[in-house]
This record gives sequence, C-alpha cells and structure tokens, in this order.
Amino acid sequence: MTAPRPLVAGNWKMNGLKAALAELAAIRDAAAAGGAGRAETAICPPFTLVAAAVEACKGSPLAIGAQDCHPRVSGAHTGDVSAEMLRDAGASYVIVGHSERRADHGETNDIVRAKAGAALAAGLAAIVCVGETKGEREAGQLTAVVGGQVDGSLDKGFDPARIVVAYEPVWAIGTGLTPTAADVAEVHAFIRARLLALYGAKGEGVRILYGGSVKPSNAAELMAVKNVDGALVGGASLKCADFMGIAAVYR
Ligand code: PGA
Repeated sequence: MTAPRPLVAGNWKMNGLKAALAELAAIRDAAAAGGAGRAETAICPPFTLVAAAVEACKGSPLAIGAQDCHPRVSGAHTGDVSAEMLRDAGASYVIVGHSERRADHGETNDIVRAKAGAALAAGLAAIVCVGETKGEREAGQLTAVVGGQVDGSLDKGFDPARIVVAYEPVWAIGTGLTPTAADVAEVHAFIRARLLALYGAKGEGVRILYGGSVKPSNAAELMAVKNVDGALVGGASLKCADFMGIAAVYR
C-alpha cells in the first residue's frame, strides 16, 4: 500500500471571531495556489464559525472540521453539538479526544471511541488524539498510555480510511517544546503497529499526524520522520503565514 496523502490540519481551539474568517480566506487562497503541495489541508475553527468557514471554502481544497462532537445524534444534551449537525453544516472532519477535552471534560477512551464512532456514522472523518503527559513519560508509561489510548479510542469496526490518529504529547502542546525526531519516530512506529493489529494491511493507510508546537522552523524535520503523515497544528494555524509555512514542507 502506498503511503497515505499527508494532512496538515489546524486546530483553532477557542480562538476566532468572525473577523478571523479573513485569515481563513488567506489560507484557502494559499492552499488553492498550491501552497501545500501534495498535502491535504483542513482548518477546525470553533463551532460558531464552522458554517461560515464551509461557505467561504466551497470549491477550494481547504477542508473544514470541528473540534469535538457529542456521541449521540440528537437529544437532551444542552450545549452539545452532534456529528450529524457538523456534517449538515458542511464539515468533513472532527477532532475527538484532544488532550484538552480529555483533561477539561474528563473524556475517557470510551467516550472518545463513542464520539469517533458517531463522527464516522455521520459521514465525517475523525481525527483521534492521543498523547502522554510529562509525568507519564518520565515514569516510563509512554507506550502503556498511548497504546491504551489507541486501542481504547478506536474500534476494530471503524472504517480505517476515515480515521486519522494525531500523536500529541501533552507536554509539547503550546509549550514550544517538541520531542526529538527519534522520539517521534519511535512513538509513530508504535502507533502504526497498533493500527496494523487493529485493521490489518489497511492500518498502513491511516494517517498518523504529529501535533504539539509544530511551527515553520521545525516542520521539515518533524514531517520527514517515518510514519509521520502530517501535522495537527494549534497556535501556528491561526496565522496564514505560519500555517502555510508548515504545509509548504509538502511542496
Ligand atoms: P500547538 O497545539 O500547536 O499550539 O502546540 C497543538 C494542538 O493542541 O493540537
């Protein structure tokens, strides 16, 4: 199986008022001009901007996603948004199990798996996040934690063609710190082996993104690592120049 097409996805987190659609339009235009080369690009703005972002990116190569979804299709869940609603709004991706959701909202692997399942059922692709804390890494629990998250957040029954895994060490998110290329290679190879165990040969086609303080200055080194099929970008996705500076690795 040939290597999957890389994906560079931006996670805007709780950032972005309507005025930020101008930055999104700049990213759209840069992507349309070939700035991401062979990579696919996506931006996941806050819920409030999803529909407008989809509208703005119609017919362009920039895909739009969301940052979370509820496991159920509809019902009495005040404040929540379902995967079906996101699909209806035109989204094509949804991030599930981001470490900030796991930490701030107590999301367990079971919840993340249910959300990923809901995303797939609604016709979205799910970007499933995993990653260890600094304490877990220092305690030698990296593979136990990440392996448990991969196995627990994915289901054997999922369509591997619509699953993306993002490895985001918690201590690297928003800190400017990154693991060494050798460390990234080791964890991504470990995740790949788990995906092969879950999905057989089709596990080879599941994109494994690296996330955590990716910026234009370190993107080339990180994206060159074996089994790194793109990036999940937080802070640097808010500015077109930074985001496209990362995506330019694939030109
Ligand atoms: P960062 O965030 O790029 O700002 O470190 C990455 C993420 O949380 O997805």
